[in-house]
Amino acid sequence: MGWKAAAIGIGRAVAAAALVRTAAAAQPGAAEPVPAPMRDLVWGRLNFLHTTDTHGWHAGHLQEPQYSADWGDYVSFAHHMRARADERGVDLLLVDTGDRVEGNGLYDASNPKGKYYYDIYKEQHVDIICTGNHELYQASTADGEHLRTVPNFKQNYIASNLDYIDPVSGKRVPMAQRYRKFQTKNQKLDIVAFGFLFDFTGNANNTVVQPVHETVREQWFRDAIREQTDVFVVIGHVGVRMPEFKTIFNAIREQNPLTPILFFGGHVHIRDATAYDARSFALASGRYFETIGWMSVSGELERSAQSEAAPLSFHRRYIDNNLLGLYHHAGGLNANTFPTEHGRNVSAMITRARQALDLDYAFGCAPKTYWMSRSPYPGDDSIYSWIETEVLPDIAVNASRKHVPRLAIVNTGTIRFDIFKGPFTRDTTYIVSPFTSMLAYIPDVPYAVAKQVIKLLNNAGPIFASAGPLHNRFMAIPEQLAIHESIVNAAPPGSTGHQWEGEAAQQRPLADGSDGRTRLTEGYTTKDDIGDDGDDTLHAPVNFYVVPNCIQAEVGFPPAGEPETVDLVFLDFITPWVLIALKFFGGDYSEKDVQLYVEGSFTELMAGWIEKNWPKHC
Ligand SMILES: *[C@@H]1O[C@H](CO)[C@@H](O)[C@H](O)[C@H]1NC(C)=O
Ligand SMILES: *[C@@H]1O[C@H](CO)[C@@H](O)[C@H](O)[C@H]1NC(C)=O
Ligand SMILES: *[C@@H]1O[C@H](CO)[C@@H](O)[C@H](O)[C@H]1NC(C)=O
Repeated sequence: MGWKAAAIGIGRAVAAAALVRTAAAAQPGAAEPVPAPMRDLVWGRLNFLHTTDTHGWHAGHLQEPQYSADWGDYVSFAHHMRARADERGVDLLLVDTGDRVEGNGLYDASNPKGKYYYDIYKEQHVDIICTGNHELYQASTADGEHLRTVPNFKQNYIASNLDYIDPVSGKRVPMAQRYRKFQTKNQKLDIVAFGFLFDFTGNANNTVVQPVHETVREQWFRDAIREQTDVFVVIGHVGVRMPEFKTIFNAIREQNPLTPILFFGGHVHIRDATAYDARSFALASGRYFETIGWMSVSGELERSAQSEAAPLSFHRRYIDNNLLGLYHHAGGLNANTFPTEHGRNVSAMITRARQALDLDYAFGCAPKTYWMSRSPYPGDDSIYSWIETEVLPDIAVNASRKHVPRLAIVNTGTIRFDIFKGPFTRDTTYIVSPFTSMLAYIPDVPYAVAKQVIKLLNNAGPIFASAGPLHNRFMAIPEQLAIHESIVNAAPPGSTGHQWEGEAAQQRPLADGSDGRTRLTEGYTTKDDIGDDGDDTLHAPVNFYVVPNCIQAEVGFPPAGEPETVDLVFLDFITPWVLIALKFFGGDYSEKDVQLYVEGSFTELMAGWIEKNWPKHC
């Protein structure tokens, strides 16, 4: 398998350097970054910084100190890191693997969406960039990608298996160039790079995604993998354990037995690294601009010198997007020496955009923190219990159907982030629930049938598995998809797979401060196929509790006994699953029976509930 060979040369964690300086955070009002024990970056001959699934979080996490650096800070960071590469005579490349949009007010709150985002994002010089599925759900988003981001990164944008349909001519054209061949700045290494999207089928009709197994048979691809090159770089909006990457790996490797192949993936929102053989390496760099991934490779990279006898060494780090950590990795800089003029300008652009969008407008003050997966469901601190017991009973109401008891079902994937104690702002609404789904219903469903639906949605994997894209796990949060993936795609023996180890893994903190050691902040404690030393920051582990695909509230039920019939109320997003479940229990309903239950998106209804029920000010 080569797993062990790939791990040779992976050093143990470099001596930890504790960070104690203080810093001004980038966005006004953002939490002060926190010091923590660090692991250093290991530089190689070819080095990469990788972002993925940033989902509009380019202002950083204003409520989470360990991720509060912004896109302007990343611009400054990349500047210093390029200078360090130049000093050493090595090369540094920046990669982004898509899903840059949807999931944060900075992108979603403007009309049209992304009014400020495109100009902010393009300020970073990204060397290899591709498309995620979120760039393609709405035709207008795909238009924006094609008309703004692709030209902004003209030389660097790659679309190996994605076409765009021109709205005027109706002509189908590649979204961007199919691959890119270039030379690195300092060592003049030849690179052939590809940019893929997984076999996504939910795109709007103005793009066409070609399944990866077809793309690798195209003549242009057959020719590209025969190019004279030193290294192949495959970036993709693809989980590093998904079959699409294996297909690409096999195709390239068959033709090029010795060439290093470096993969950068995303989509499943986790930190992860693996190797497909001893001369390949694959990195996934988390989500929401919490993580900047680092990969380096050393050894005989020139094709003339490559041989089985000259092994390569690979390193990876998951850099917390923490200003203090960025200072450290950039060579021990500080609040005065770190920000570049360009970086400051970009931070200022973000501040202006946030003000123009009034993202700090508070609907109310969250009395406590509600977690998605860090605390058990059901439970007092579970965001899902809060929705089930407090929010749904108030919002699943329509005056004309008030007298009819209802079951209200919401898929857990509709919630994308925790709610922190403190102001619940316009920004928070997009962060917590970035979707436009509305509450729909089927009237007067026999209770005996309706009450079974939730069980099937949550438990009947095999029934839905045969439905392909309708597998019921797609109703849950993407982070759980990653767990599923690690189970389905068996990890090599001895590997523990992911940072999630099932329910409530690892509740014991590494250090609690009582013995005089640094008190660790909670955060990622990643285990990947390389080991458990990937995170740049030593953290106390975070709990991860698995949540069901869907939750359900009984609303307007009689105090005793069961109702004859109920209105089955559910988020319109899960309509296909609900119809299958109803059919399974003998309820013969179709799309035609599904009607709107309440005006307004679930997100708007939730914000309205908060405005009414939580104190206005903190
Ligand atoms: C895509 O769908 C829209 C609305 O359903 C339709 O107006 C348009 O013609 C379709 N475009 C293509 C390229 O099929
Ligand atoms: C930063 O912004 C100032 C004022 O708009 C401008 O004059 C300057 O050229 C910008 N510098 C960079 C490096 O972008
Ligand atoms: C209640 O349902 C009716 C019929 O679907 C709809 O016209 C009305 O707008 C709904 N009321 C509210 C407050 O959403």
